[in-house]
Amino acid sequence: MLRMYFFSGTGNARNVARWMVDAWRRRGQDAEAFDLGKPGGPLVDIGPDDVVGLASPTHGFNFPPITLAFLFAFPRAPRRNRVLILNTRAGLRLFGLCLPGLSGVAQLLAALVFLLKGYRVVGMRPIDLPSNWISIHPGLREDNVRILHERCEAVTRRFADRLLDGRRDYRALFDLIQDLLIAPIALGYYFAGRFLFAKSFIASRDCDACGVCVQQCPLEAVRLVDGRPFWSWRCESCMHCMNRCPRRAIETGHGFLAVSLALLYVALAVLVYPALRPVVPVLADEGFAGQALRFVLENVLMLSSVFLGYRLLHSAMRFRVVERLATLTSLTHFAFWRRYRAPRAPTPGPVACDEVVAEPGGPDPGHVPVGQALHGGNFQNLNDSPRDEYSLPLP
Ligand SMILES: Cc1cc2nc3c(=O)[nH]c(=O)nc-3n(C[C@H](O)[C@H](O)[C@H](O)COP(=O)(O)O)c2cc1C
Ligand code: SF4
Ligand code: SF4
Repeated sequence: MLRMYFFSGTGNARNVARWMVDAWRRRGQDAEAFDLGKPGGPLVDIGPDDVVGLASPTHGFNFPPITLAFLFAFPRAPRRNRVLILNTRAGLRLFGLCLPGLSGVAQLLAALVFLLKGYRVVGMRPIDLPSNWISIHPGLREDNVRILHERCEAVTRRFADRLLDGRRDYRALFDLIQDLLIAPIALGYYFAGRFLFAKSFIASRDCDACGVCVQQCPLEAVRLVDGRPFWSWRCESCMHCMNRCPRRAIETGHGFLAVSLALLYVALAVLVYPALRPVVPVLADEGFAGQALRFVLENVLMLSSVFLGYRLLHSAMRFRVVERLATLTSLTHFAFWRRYRAPRAPTPGPVACDEVVAEPGGPDPGHVPVGQALHGGNFQNLNDSPRDEYSLPLP
């Protein structure tokens, strides 16, 4: 049986898990998908003949902390079980060209952990589905979303077929050198960057306190404080809430971040360094020790000031002038800054391939192309949960 574990913010990795399960079932083999983002997490029970699959987005050149925590807690292999790893990345389409994302250490770290736990890694594949990082760029246009999904579905199914034929696929290792070169950024994102992005979300006056973001967050990272959503440091910027808010009220506080960082660097230059250098002379050193110390100091101060500033901003947002300033200096507020939600892949076929009768020259009955899924259709959920509803029309 294929046990396909997945975490997904906006539906890409979920679709990959569905395509894998579908490919397995169409060869008459058992397969099931398990969502790491569900309350309580999935039940992990690996039998001696099970194949383990993991699909998750790449965050900051690594897997997000929720996936890493799951990985580190994963049980040892009962019998050198096979493992396949899929990381969805930021695929883009510019001037008709499909551009890949960057995996960093995501695949390498996951493979290492599985190897140390006694598994045999037989497949490692990045899947370049549309980028969902709308804090830093607008969501892709609907036609590009559709094209990238169709390409990635074909890639994922080919990958599944190769593994089902008993072969191996290590496509992820083609990027080994670039992945190792950007590994230090993965560390920086893990220890600092992700907290900065967690504290970048604000809710505009369009928020009606419906609580959808609170209920659907897989990490219980949002709560309503004084009737307004407050994002805690637990947020992993999976982008689910921002893309799902029924009022499109969640914004990235670009203006807030810019002002906080500018004030911080002025304070560092004018107050902190002049005061500290006489006491800690190594801070003025241009060697490794000086640079490392400045790096740690600046990041600690950056996170502390953003945390503090975020609390103040949250309280001050009740004043119309502050709310308007914070909202109107956010790029995500403007209509051209599209949101992103993956079109939902169809429910994996419940029947074996040879039970499905194809019409000569007609479409494959076991497979509904994702382009069709975009425009509706009869797609049930694998598991019932509000987080499964990725199929609303793209805004
Ligand atoms: C906070 C954040 C960090 C990201 N970092 C990376 C990255 O390092 N490399 C990359 O290729 N894509 C990156 N992406 C893009 C996502 O990995 C990509 O869109 C993925 O397919 C989303 O999958 P999901 O819909 O299952 O959440 C990032 C997205 C977010 C929100
Ligand atoms: S989902 Fe949107 S409207 Fe509802 S509480 Fe969250 S921010 Fe407000
Ligand atoms: S608060 Fe939003 S972006 Fe952050 S983890 Fe929860 S759903 Fe994802």
